[in-house]
Amino acid sequence: MYRVGIVTISDKGSVGLREDVSGPTIKKIVEEFGYTVTEMTLIPDEPEQISEVLRTWSDENKADLILTTGGTGFSMRDQTPEATLAIAERVVPGIAEAIRAYSMTITKRAMLSRGVACLRKKTLIVNMPGSPKAVKEILDYCLDTWTHGLGVLIGSETDCARK
Ligand code: MTE
Repeated sequence: MYRVGIVTISDKGSVGLREDVSGPTIKKIVEEFGYTVTEMTLIPDEPEQISEVLRTWSDENKADLILTTGGTGFSMRDQTPEATLAIAERVVPGIAEAIRAYSMTITKRAMLSRGVACLRKKTLIVNMPGSPKAVKEILDYCLDTWTHGLGVLIGSETDCARK
């Protein structure tokens, strides 16, 4: 199945002041879904570092799907969406719209997440908020639909007609 890279973005997590629960939560959910986790890292809220990881994993074809968690809010250090857009080749507004629309049925605070989604080469990159609760809600809702998109991106699926 598809290969997943997971990037936890957290200043506190990167220096051991906060346990990374969201990264392992994503790993568990995507593996239960049948995907394989090929890359996993924990980095601070440094835009250049974030862009570098996303660029490298996409360009070296290390993952079909890169999921980031954290750094999407209003804190001055939250710059994940900007760092993602800096390396985007094609934006995927519908994924970010769907995440916020669905998440707002759970909490109105979902409107405060500025996450984006984009394509670079043959990799789909999706920003998610930092909380394990949020990543579970989002993945449970989205993964099956992303599977079809990844199939089209990679070329294993060409037909959008539902069987
Ligand atoms: N989305 C879902 N599905 N569930 C949540 O609990 N929390 C929100 C939002 N999106 C939430 C959610 C909150 S409280 C914030 S502040 C923003 O995501 C940004 O989170 P981040 O700064 O950790 O990226």
